[in-house]
Amino acid sequence: MNLSSVSNNEPDLLTECPASQPRKPPSKKRDRVIEATTDGSLFVGADEFCNSQEVNDIINLLPICYVGNKKRMLMYIWRFLEEEGVRFDTVFDAFSGSCVFSFMSLMMGKHVVSNDIMSYPSLLAVSLFGPKKMCPSDSDLLRVMGDEIDPSNNIHVADQWEGMFFTEKECKFLNSYRSNMISLYGPSVFAGELTDGRKKIISLVPGCEAKETDGMRSNSFMLYLILTLLHQLCFTGGRYFRRQLIARLEYRLDHIRNKGEEIYSKPMDFMWLKEIRQFMNILEAKKEEGGGTHKFVSDDIMNVLTSGNAPSADLVYLDPPYGGLSSNYVEIYRLFEEYIYGVKPDRVQHLVDHASRFKKPAGYREQFEEVLDQCDRYESWLISYNERSFASLEQIYESVRRFRSRVDIMETDIKYRYRKGTGKGNEFTILARQ
Ligand SMILES: C[S@@+](CC[C@H](N)C(=O)[O-])C[C@H]1O[C@@H](n2cnc3c(N)ncnc32)[C@H](O)[C@@H]1O
Repeated sequence: MNLSSVSNNEPDLLTECPASQPRKPPSKKRDRVIEATTDGSLFVGADEFCNSQEVNDIINLLPICYVGNKKRMLMYIWRFLEEEGVRFDTVFDAFSGSCVFSFMSLMMGKHVVSNDIMSYPSLLAVSLFGPKKMCPSDSDLLRVMGDEIDPSNNIHVADQWEGMFFTEKECKFLNSYRSNMISLYGPSVFAGELTDGRKKIISLVPGCEAKETDGMRSNSFMLYLILTLLHQLCFTGGRYFRRQLIARLEYRLDHIRNKGEEIYSKPMDFMWLKEIRQFMNILEAKKEEGGGTHKFVSDDIMNVLTSGNAPSADLVYLDPPYGGLSSNYVEIYRLFEEYIYGVKPDRVQHLVDHASRFKKPAGYREQFEEVLDQCDRYESWLISYNERSFASLEQIYESVRRFRSRVDIMETDIKYRYRKGTGKGNEFTILARQ
């Protein structure tokens, strides 16, 4: 059996559905077919498959619990592309989040541009795709986590969370970490490129102009690590607390993961430094081997697509917020944004203007179609969709069909832990071609 025979065995679902009717997504049988193909022995000579499995394992080294990430879907998505015979050298990952699709593409030798408007994905991307020498050494980190160097750099941003999200000592730790970053590396943080090619630089001191500095990339990594630590220890799954990710203090301390331990007790372990270093070494080697390149843009998707400077690519991957409880990333990651900017997100202009674009059911379809309308330049569209979205699969399908005649859908039966208990949330991957 080979790859094409699996593909040929699939019914041509598109021709089975009249244009006015949404195509019935493939049944779970299709997933079983895909599962079966994970057995390398079925694919004698299918080197790409073995490679993508290996790359997937490398990506799994990373601590990824970003809301809406496609880590568990990655192999299915990649195999869907292979099975459908999509040829591409360049990828635009338009809502990159945890960047797993960008990592996979880059390690598979593609040229990749990733984009995301929020800060945590931006810091993750500039850190992990950046030069590995920027990954801090243990001693760099110990200095940032050590005694406060210059208290005048402390703006006490964490004080507001005391008792609700963090203990008094944890707040001190968070304040002092941030203050030491400023003392050692200056007040600027590099967060990627804007659409017009200028650098996106964040100032850690509210009201101070954000300037390019030598230490700004070190600050990106330091922030990425501390936010990863918070992600790992304070996002306990289950319900959101006050519509955001960090759990209520008592709940988190009682949680089996923490067993009463506070965030500063073993910080390096939960920043996953060893794994991050290992990942960066392999990523660099794979990049050299495959010849792929990477660029990260941090802007609103509509700004990017309408700028006249939109990335060129053969394939665009669209994984916007779906709607439902997990669509308002500014709310979910409010605490992270506040920690970075030192002010509430409602004072961060680009978040106010654009980051809530996909947060409401009203107008969701229009927003989605506006994005599609600007994607004409991309030959193939890959779209992730979750059945808990604001729009139904039928609506999404109809929207895509307005622009593209050839649409294939893969259904993946995957279980996520939703806020109210364990729920089933089928994932759909839509491939649209001209
Ligand atoms: C479902 S997540 C993407 C997950 C990603 N594919 C992964 O595997 O981690 C949606 C992403 O869209 C980003 N986003 C929301 N509004 C945006 C906008 N207007 N422009 C660009 N990115 C946006 C969010 O920050 C979030 O990271």
